[in-house]
Amino acid sequence: MDGNGRWAKRRFMPRVFGHKQGVDALVRTVLACADRGIEYLTVFAFSSENWKRPTEEVSGLMGLVLVAVSKYLGKLAADGVRIRIVGDRGQVSDKLRQAWEQAESSTRHNTRITLSVAFNYGGRWDIVQACRRAIADGLQPDELDEARLNSYMALSYAPDPDLFIRTGGELRISNFLLWQAAYSELVFTECLWPEFGTAELDAALAQYAQRERRFGAVPSASADEAATC
Ligand code: IPE
Ligand code: MG
Repeated sequence: MDGNGRWAKRRFMPRVFGHKQGVDALVRTVLACADRGIEYLTVFAFSSENWKRPTEEVSGLMGLVLVAVSKYLGKLAADGVRIRIVGDRGQVSDKLRQAWEQAESSTRHNTRITLSVAFNYGGRWDIVQACRRAIADGLQPDELDEARLNSYMALSYAPDPDLFIRTGGELRISNFLLWQAAYSELVFTECLWPEFGTAELDAALAQYAQRERRFGAVPSASADEAATC
């Protein structure tokens, strides 16, 4: 969900104002995904590396999470959204941890869409924590395969993402879903996150619909024919 800071700067507003608008974009997007039958949406809200930002912005973001949970949790819960938080909860405040727990427990029976919020998350962090837990479980080297390691990953309850969207114009993955995005279709858009809405979502879905997914195999005969016609 990139581009909040630039969106605010263009309006001569503080960066945290952009993050605030970003929360509204998130609520809009999760409901739009649910309307389109998408069952899993995972968003990158705060990376393991975002602690490097100025203290004022970091504390603004933490405060915003508390405000967002109290403002939107009721609506999301009523709309059938199941909320899960993925990331290292060790470093966040007790208040924030409690808010996450409340968001998860009050939505745990919902089935319409699962919104996973990656917070204090990094793809490399996830791989390391999965390995650590596998070792702590006494797993032997020959017992470890991709499926087994996946069962220790933070998003083990969700299928791998089919579509990976990055807003804000940067052309990189920035340590998001490194393990899970192995075969995701990537869509990059210049749209700044606070402006993301149904038009951008549908444009990304249309791009996705044009992609031929082979997962390492050769193109199917029918796809080959279609290409030469
Ligand atoms: C949001 O956008 C990402 C978060 C870490 C919350 P940015 O804050 O990275 O916005 P830009 O890139 O400065 O515009
Ligand atoms: Mg950015």
